[in-house]
Amino acid sequence: MLVCQCSGVSDRTIRRVVRGGASTVGQVARGCGAGAYCGGCTSAIRELIQSDVAENRPETSSSVSGPVNPSA
Ligand code: FES
Repeated sequence: MLVCQCSGVSDRTIRRVVRGGASTVGQVARGCGAGAYCGGCTSAIRELIQSDVAENRPETSSSVSGPVNPSA
């Protein structure tokens, strides 16, 4: 899906830049050009950054660790 009309940048490209270390709209703009012109896509870029951070957040200590064997 095209996110930035000005630079012709898709959500996939933005996610790749975020996974490469970008954590702000400015860093994404430097990485791929999205958000560098009219700014109309910055809220969508912010959402992509936040969703990517949430997806890649390390599991908390309350999560199950190790294999689970229900027949044991
Ligand atoms: S739509 Fe992304 S900078 Fe204009």
